[in-house]
Amino acid sequence: MTKKYVTTAIPYMNGNPHIGHAMDYCLADVCARYLRLCGDEVRFQAGTDEHGGKIYQKAVERDMSPQEYVDERARTFKDFIKKLDVEYTDFVRTTDDEHVKRVQEIWMKLKPYIYLDEYEGWYCTGCERFITPKEYDENNGVCPDHQKPYEKLKEKNYYFRISDFKKRIRAAIEADEMLILPEFRKKEVLRLLDESPDVSVSRPREQLAWGVTVPDDESQVMYVWMDALANYITVLGYPEKDISAWWPATAQFVGKDILRFHAIIWPAMLMGLGLDLPRTIVSHGMILADGQKMSKSVGNVIDPQEVIDLFGASAFRYYFLRHVDTFADADFTWAKYESAYNNELANDLGNLVQRLASLITKNDVEINCGDSIEMSGEYRELMDKYEYARAFDLVWEKIQKINQDIDIEKPWVLAKENKTEELGRVLNKLTQDLLTANYELEPFLPETSKRIKEVFKNPVHPPETPLFPKK
Ligand code: MSP
Repeated sequence: MTKKYVTTAIPYMNGNPHIGHAMDYCLADVCARYLRLCGDEVRFQAGTDEHGGKIYQKAVERDMSPQEYVDERARTFKDFIKKLDVEYTDFVRTTDDEHVKRVQEIWMKLKPYIYLDEYEGWYCTGCERFITPKEYDENNGVCPDHQKPYEKLKEKNYYFRISDFKKRIRAAIEADEMLILPEFRKKEVLRLLDESPDVSVSRPREQLAWGVTVPDDESQVMYVWMDALANYITVLGYPEKDISAWWPATAQFVGKDILRFHAIIWPAMLMGLGLDLPRTIVSHGMILADGQKMSKSVGNVIDPQEVIDLFGASAFRYYFLRHVDTFADADFTWAKYESAYNNELANDLGNLVQRLASLITKNDVEINCGDSIEMSGEYRELMDKYEYARAFDLVWEKIQKINQDIDIEKPWVLAKENKTEELGRVLNKLTQDLLTANYELEPFLPETSKRIKEVFKNPVHPPETPLFPKK
């Protein structure tokens, strides 16, 4: 059994769970479940990013202390993850005492690469990011993602000497030692790397009170990204514990908007600490609503809780794992969602299970399917390349093929003609095919897969309520 470690981005606790957060959770969950199916032992981290200016502002707006506010948010996020049927093994909050202590130790270890200087330039609190003069000019001084003018900063900051590591980072990315997926994002990162200046890693306390104190300078608070990125190793117990059984991570799942932090600052931190780089960074695209970026000001934000409540977690996972390309931006519309539920989940799969199980029980057929179910080579290849939507398509093709086979074989005609032996053979074969597809379905729809296994366990019994009642 090999040990594998899978991670998700930790969302900012300044609002409600977003569809985008669900993408990280669902993709990483598929990865973890698939690896377990392959026989690996997996640790799966999730967590919450609880420091920084925008969280502080939200707490003030809500008339709460920042700690009270993030405590409430963290509970909401934990409930949300559970609702998605996502099973993490480790949860980290950046306000956990242990995390704070460990981050401070990490800072001390990185000290040789940290220097004090004055920062004069631009910042976006929405992005929690320092803006280069080139970006400032390109965007005419307004953040395109938050529609807010960049803030001018002139302050004393600690800087992290990324320049010390750039060459090695480039080599690691080019050689796929740290594989960045998809390939076109890897090219973008390499271009960005050239332009990346040393990064400011602290803010004066009077500018940002809600954060981890720089250990040997109380007047400064750590930049949220240094604090947040460290979560992937603090949750494993670094630095006091030996993490070599789990680190480097097998796969780190992030949205494309935060790939730059994971592909530049994060590897520089790891190199400074003498740790290996993650094996793979999987960068997914953005979910759009009716073709547009979701934004509060446009009023087109889709609430994932509402989407789950409509047809359940399995339908949610189905749509976002199959109809959303794993790497590209993709659209959500209620119409597409309903059609996927009714035509695919209810018709293709729900009906198939009901139909096949009823044919078996009605005709008293004994099912003797072997236990030796295996994943197909093609499926494994796609799963190993993190091409989850395509692997899911493959599983669905199998399900559709079983539906076609039923129509071709017409077991009801065999029953009518009393061809008992042939009927037994046909229904056993169809069940075997379904259980094989169901095995590959498990990482995507664990709950559904479990129910299907139950239905076809000897003696077969059709589900009392349809798996996916038509709406
Ligand atoms: N706190 C940082 C991450 C720190 S990780 C060390 C952050 N938080 S976030 O809440 O803004 O985003 C969390 C995740 O949600 C990111 O992977 C981000 O890409 C993803 N998404 C947020 N909105 C999204 C969409 N509309 N679509 C897809 N994913 C997006 O960044």
